[in-house]
Amino acid sequence: EKGGFDTYMLKEIYEQPQALTNTLIGRLHDDTGEVNLDINLNPQSFKRISIIACGTAYYAGLVGEYLIEQLARVPVEVDVASEYRYRNPLVSENTLAIVVSQSGETIDTLEALREAKKGGAKTLGVINAKGSSMTRELDDTLYIHAGPEIGVASTKAYTSMVSAFVMLALWLGRARGTLSEMEAKDLLHAARELPRLVEEALAPERVEQIRRVAEKYAHARDYLFLGRGVNAPTAYEGALKLKEISYIHAEAYAAGEMKHGPIALIDAQLPVVVVATESRLLEKTISNVQEVRARSGKVILLLSDGDSENARHADDVLYVPRAHEMVSPVVNAVAMQLLAYFTATALGKDVDKPRNLAKSVTVE
Ligand code: F6R
Repeated sequence: EKGGFDTYMLKEIYEQPQALTNTLIGRLHDDTGEVNLDINLNPQSFKRISIIACGTAYYAGLVGEYLIEQLARVPVEVDVASEYRYRNPLVSENTLAIVVSQSGETIDTLEALREAKKGGAKTLGVINAKGSSMTRELDDTLYIHAGPEIGVASTKAYTSMVSAFVMLALWLGRARGTLSEMEAKDLLHAARELPRLVEEALAPERVEQIRRVAEKYAHARDYLFLGRGVNAPTAYEGALKLKEISYIHAEAYAAGEMKHGPIALIDAQLPVVVVATESRLLEKTISNVQEVRARSGKVILLLSDGDSENARHADDVLYVPRAHEMVSPVVNAVAMQLLAYFTATALGKDVDKPRNLAKSVTVE
């Protein structure tokens, strides 16, 4: 049932091209730049959006915040559900609360949803599990259709959630008039490319390179992950994956925050993974990389294919296929998953059953 793979996690990593196809299929209209999400809520009626989730789903929500604010110009806040539910949140009928959950059963997220409803918010779920508890209480559900996820560490659900947010940002941006037809078509084409790009990100020579790098640093005591803008959450997710399955202590920061504290940690023993794929802010990120180098940190750079110019700043390079910046977190996440995976397997850990973790957290 693991389809020839050693673990569910690896199987699910390789299922991502199909999972993404299922998330996107039938929802993108190339000719008009419109998406059809079958959502009954009125996209023009919200003054603000609250995204609420836990763990990996929360990081997908952070990407969602970036995309929605950029493309639809609506104020968005993102909360971890365990905070939201107890902080007496400001909610009104003009609030759209979006909960994000693979299982649809996470108790903190479910209770946060109830809290948002109590305040009068309209509610939308980005959910994987059909008919799960949350879906029975939501006004609308955007299913991600990633298929069952069995590995405890979330992989395909994350990339499908992020893709769902690309579509939500398109939907909101078009309806609210902040996104031109041309921009929408451009982004829609970029979204349509995702299954193919992820397939390419899983090409054997790339996977082998990630395995080599993972093995080289598998005995590190700590890891640091940095990223900016729409890929800051890629760094957070990379650190979380590594912690969960390899038990290596990892921290993640928005790259520009490094000099405000974490830079004190850098020494020759510290591998620093930097998401430095094509972006408007790439130069800024590279200057952060130079700060790491100046303190002898080991730099592992995630670069877009063909960027040999920036490769000289790295001890090790992981190349990923070029993608439109707004969808690049999907492609980049795959490299993060594989880095965590091969680190854990190099250390002999049971990646499908990491210690202390459960697939679905239905207790507080
Ligand atoms: C991380 C992971 C967890 C879940 C979190 C939320 O790999 O799997 O952080 O993302 O427990 O779960 P769902 O999405 O089911 O609400």
